[in-house]
Amino acid sequence: MKPPGWTAAQWLLCLLFLRIPEPEHCYLYNNRYAGDKVIRLVPETEGEAHVLKNICHQFKVDLWQPSSISYVSEGTVTDVHIPQNGSQILLAFLQQANIQYTVLIADLQKTLEKGNSLRAQRNRRSLPGYSYEVYHSLEEIQNWMHHLNKTHPGLVHMFSIGKSYEGRSLFILKLGRRSRAYKRAVWIDCGIHAREWIGPAFCQWFVKEALQTYRSDPAMRKMLNHLYFYIMPVFNVDGYHFSWTNDRFWRKTRSRNSRFRCRGVDANRNWKVNWCDEGASFHPCDDTYCGPFPESEPEVKAVAHFLRKRKKHIRAYLSFHAYAQMLLYPYSYKYAKIPNFSCVESAAYNAVIALHSAYGVRYRHGPASSTMYVSSGSSMDWAYKNGIPYAFAFELRDTGHFGFLLPESLIKPTCTETMLAVKNITMHLLKKCH
Ligand SMILES: *[C@@H]1O[C@H](CO)[C@@H](O)[C@H](O)[C@H]1NC(C)=O
Ligand SMILES: *[C@@H]1O[C@H](CO)[C@@H](O)[C@H](O)[C@H]1NC(C)=O
Ligand SMILES: *[C@@H]1O[C@H](CO)[C@@H](O)[C@H](O)[C@H]1NC(C)=O
Ligand SMILES: *[C@@H]1O[C@H](CO)[C@@H](O)[C@H](O)[C@H]1NC(C)=O
Ligand SMILES: [Zn+2]
Repeated sequence: MKPPGWTAAQWLLCLLFLRIPEPEHCYLYNNRYAGDKVIRLVPETEGEAHVLKNICHQFKVDLWQPSSISYVSEGTVTDVHIPQNGSQILLAFLQQANIQYTVLIADLQKTLEKGNSLRAQRNRRSLPGYSYEVYHSLEEIQNWMHHLNKTHPGLVHMFSIGKSYEGRSLFILKLGRRSRAYKRAVWIDCGIHAREWIGPAFCQWFVKEALQTYRSDPAMRKMLNHLYFYIMPVFNVDGYHFSWTNDRFWRKTRSRNSRFRCRGVDANRNWKVNWCDEGASFHPCDDTYCGPFPESEPEVKAVAHFLRKRKKHIRAYLSFHAYAQMLLYPYSYKYAKIPNFSCVESAAYNAVIALHSAYGVRYRHGPASSTMYVSSGSSMDWAYKNGIPYAFAFELRDTGHFGFLLPESLIKPTCTETMLAVKNITMHLLKKCH
């Protein structure tokens, strides 16, 4: 039943506006982060680490860094999002245990609202003046992809490789001049983890730069003439959408579990490479849940299928995450040197120097296991094990000052410097490495 005088279209419009957070009318995310804090702890002893682990279990906090509490030991930089209702008792507990902490974000809701009011001041809807310096919703990103597919038929081809758990299309942009049939290729994905919004922003930036500089920059022209880039701006579409509408700090996919109420699988622990070994969890409520079986997530399955079919062509796999400022290569799941270590290491080394040359931002680089932590079932290891010789994962800015809430004013510098790294890696591919 609907009140008289309202058309279905009006109702739809109204519903749409209710779903989109509008700072003038209501609080973002229903004000659920009011008074929440993000604090940083670095346990000085194993004893302190143990206490910290217990606290995190007990209070069911949202861990920002590292991705699982099991990684926390002496010296681990640990960023924890604590809810307002638990913060007093939790902080008192820490003081009693004499564990030092610093407050990174004093009121998460305020920080969120601040970012959003800046965003609202800009016009994000008109495509000719499309802004790459704001975060875009899934719908906006997909509209942008359709638009490019129409306006750049010579360089862009958009297609879908399947559907997500909730039935959304998994869109890819194939970028590069259509010339001969056989071309080597580079795969780039962003947004495997929903809350890492700078990832999709970088994928969009990369495409923009490629199209804008194709004529003027000889290096870009060479890249697009000799290679195809397969770009997946939002890998985890359901999770990304959910991080806009319901929970800004959602990480996993949105699949249901038959035995638990907790939803979602870590799409970067669900790959068939030492699946659910060290650094992944069997528990559906954990943020690093590996899923019921490898490739259980339709998003992972679709991408794995696509990469497997084209592994002869694809020379590089690049995956974009946040935050830590690192450039990582295999292995994630064990402490061992990869067979092609020297070529991959020198590509990474040059890439972080190139990145640093823009604004002096430092990235650590190295094997993921020893540079960050051990994790199994990751997409990067899977790509490498399936014959893609250059596999990298970027952990973009920052190192925790804003964490997942990297302000939009930092999209441009972050993407500009990252672009230098990606171009450097790509030019490296076009040369022989011994
Ligand atoms: C804090 O609030 C959340 C939901 O708002 C609730 O699930 C949780 O039990 C509360 N914790 C405490 C310690 O009151
Ligand atoms: C992209 O454009 C081509 C034609 O240029 C069309 O065949 C294709 O269906 C478009 N892709 C999508 C996803 O709409
Ligand atoms: C890659 O980066 C290194 C180190 O900054 C630099 O010497 C080299 O010229 C760069 N290569 C390209 C193609 O940009
Ligand atoms: C190492 O690199 C070479 C040349 O890029 C490639 O042919 C070979 O398959 C790679 N080996 C592995 C194990 O990745
Ligand atoms: Zn991530």
